[in-house]
Amino acid sequence: MAKKKSAPKSTAKPAPKADKPLPTAHADGAPGIDIGISTGDRRKVADGLSHFLADAYTLYLKTHNFHWNITGPMFNSLHVMFEGQYTEQWTALDEIAERIRALGFKAPGSYAEFVRLSSIPEEPGLGDSADWREMVRQLVVGNEAVCRTARKVLATADKAGDDPTVDLMTQRLNIHEKNAWMLRSLLQ
Ligand SMILES: [Fe+2]
Repeated sequence: MAKKKSAPKSTAKPAPKADKPLPTAHADGAPGIDIGISTGDRRKVADGLSHFLADAYTLYLKTHNFHWNITGPMFNSLHVMFEGQYTEQWTALDEIAERIRALGFKAPGSYAEFVRLSSIPEEPGLGDSADWREMVRQLVVGNEAVCRTARKVLATADKAGDDPTVDLMTQRLNIHEKNAWMLRSLLQ
């Protein structure tokens, strides 16, 4: 009877043991986060950023809506101006949402969440005869609201030592204050 061959010895090295476990593993098995900001502070900054994302998204949509529906003698210049603004805002939304994820929290991404979180109220539709002055006024108000929310988040992030969020909010303030100035100038 032929002798059974023994299984060849494995040459693979055993997986190295981690020096210490990841901090505060979550119930779902996801690794904990230790980036030098306490969980409470990360939660506060992420919560502020969620409000900021809701405001930024609401303003983005309003700007795009007005790009579509502008009529009258200012059509060409405002159609182009609104396009420049909503295109820039659309790109920034991704940065804001991904900062929330990097802090360890879920980014809001539905209309229901944005309506609940945004400080910019729904204003009545502008109807068939869209008045360009009313569109511009709403965008001034919207850009200013986004600025106020950014300032709150910036202060929270600064206290928490969260420099990337401070940097992001500084960049957004720069853009939205400039947008508000340019739009305001059309009404003066
Ligand atoms: Fe377009």
